Amino acid sequence: MKIVGVGHYAPAHVVTNHDLEAWLDTTDEWITTRTGMKRRHWTSDNEATSDLASAAAEAALVHAGLQAADVDCFIVATVTPDYYFPATACLVATRLGVREKPAFDIAIACSGFIYGLTVASGLIRSGVYRRVMLIGAESLSKILDKGDRSTAILFGDGAGAVILERSEENSFLASDLGADGSRPELLYAHGSGSREPIDHAALDAKLHLIHMQGRETFKLAVNKMVESTGSVLSKANLTKADIAFLIPHQANKRIIDATARYLGLPDDKVVINISEYGNTSAASIPMALSETVRTGRVKPGDLIVFVAFGGGLSWGAVAWRWTA
Ligand code: ACO
Repeated sequence: MKIVGVGHYAPAHVVTNHDLEAWLDTTDEWITTRTGMKRRHWTSDNEATSDLASAAAEAALVHAGLQAADVDCFIVATVTPDYYFPATACLVATRLGVREKPAFDIAIACSGFIYGLTVASGLIRSGVYRRVMLIGAESLSKILDKGDRSTAILFGDGAGAVILERSEENSFLASDLGADGSRPELLYAHGSGSREPIDHAALDAKLHLIHMQGRETFKLAVNKMVESTGSVLSKANLTKADIAFLIPHQANKRIIDATARYLGLPDDKVVINISEYGNTSAASIPMALSETVRTGRVKPGDLIVFVAFGGGLSWGAVAWRWTA
């Protein structure tokens, strides 16, 4: 199997670090040096995750030279769905003009694309489907406490899509996934879940919004991304020297830099676009992949390692051989 099309989309509304200075006790200098972020894109009131996902999917279809009807299954990785249900993937498939094809969501926060790539690859490799559209899409600005400087500066909105197709070439080399639900307090948004159904008290406590213990999450992110990259390489019988591109989840430039340093990877092998988009959770890796492919940097035969860490806690890596 291989990827035959990529696309990405970010909403038009840009929020710069200087914009944030207007209502938060923060500075462009603090945000830039602590996170590497300069700008992020936020949806407007009338935009939702399915709108971003559909735009990215349409771009991927054009890139692949395919119609939506050529796709057998639609998967959206997101923790900011339009609704609790129906699944955002159902809305996206319908928006693309497709009827009665399977569509479902994967909710595993920043690891969503890695889990999704593993599931989609499994569906194709086992012969269930010929073509799968996998989209990572988030509207995190909708669940941000915009008055909390420790999280409001970090997150952005966007979507990235890939179309996977059965092929003689084998792009999927290995996957390494992990999760640990013992410390949900490190990173959570209770939303209107069954543990704390939304009521006035929950709203007042802002339980529906993102809460994060940044410093602890930071350390775990570096450790797990390094560990998972090592595991996926060893499963694929490869070494760090074989990596052409590391495409990590874009949570913080310092996390990415530390991960690359532990892995001994030079800057030109590590894809970073965090200054433009901030942390877009499940969308960050497919957006970065789409930008990298569309600018012609990726060559046939290149080994790409995708790696992520995020809410769950969850983490994972996929080793991928790029084929034309
Ligand atoms: N502007 C100015 N000062 C700030 C800001 C801000 N925006 N935010 C925090 N500070 C202050 C803090 O109050 C603290 O002040 P104090 O020393 O007086 O108490 C100081 O800066 C240092 O705060 P830390 O939290 O220790 O700062 P740190 O260097 O750790 O950076 C950050 C914070 C950016 C959140 C970092 O910890 C981080 O990126 N964590 C990991 C995020 C991540 O990987 N998340 C997982 C994926 S997300 C998902 O799955 C949905």
